[in-house]
Amino acid sequence: MLLSPPVTPQGLQTLIASEDIHARIGSLATAISRDHPDGVHLVCVLKGAFMFAADLARCLTGRVTMDFIAVSSYGTGSSSSGEVQLLKDLDVAIAGRDVVIVEDIVDTGLTLTYLLGVLRARAPRTLRAACLLSKPTRRVVAVPVEYVGFEIEDRFVVGYGLDHAEAYRNLPAIAVLEGVVSPT
Ligand code: IMP
Repeated sequence: MLLSPPVTPQGLQTLIASEDIHARIGSLATAISRDHPDGVHLVCVLKGAFMFAADLARCLTGRVTMDFIAVSSYGTGSSSSGEVQLLKDLDVAIAGRDVVIVEDIVDTGLTLTYLLGVLRARAPRTLRAACLLSKPTRRVVAVPVEYVGFEIEDRFVVGYGLDHAEAYRNLPAIAVLEGVVSPT
């Protein structure tokens, strides 16, 4: 988790408005429904993807099941350790299922790479990834993401599930948190 002095709401600058998020999720859902004619098993990556997964699920057609997994992406402090720790595993097996991992943001790509490895080892029939946000310039490992909501610049963002020190997850829009930089 990133640590820095508390930032007041005045330090927030809207980057992606709520209406734009919902319009984009509608398009992603159309593509996911089209690619999964037999239904889809969503794996929501806690905590950041909870809002995205909830809205995405509501827009999907066909049979949808959901499960949740939790990881810690970074070590302590503001530097990326590159190590990912599984905090909560899935409740049900995914062997033979059509799985879509739902992530909030792909930054270095280390978390998603780890998750894809963990889930692929469990022999799903298909395995794809959906992320609301992607910061391509920050990537340290190439990772396939079939469904990307928005590509953004290297700014630290909060809202719509994303946090800073556990705050701001409730914001309906994506906002830049001024004075906070991505972990190095
Ligand atoms: P990665 O392993 O570097 O791709 O990191 C992915 C995780 O880092 C995300 O699931 C978030 O929890 C966190 N993260 C990366 N960038 C941001 C950001 O701008 N705001 C909030 N969390 C972020």
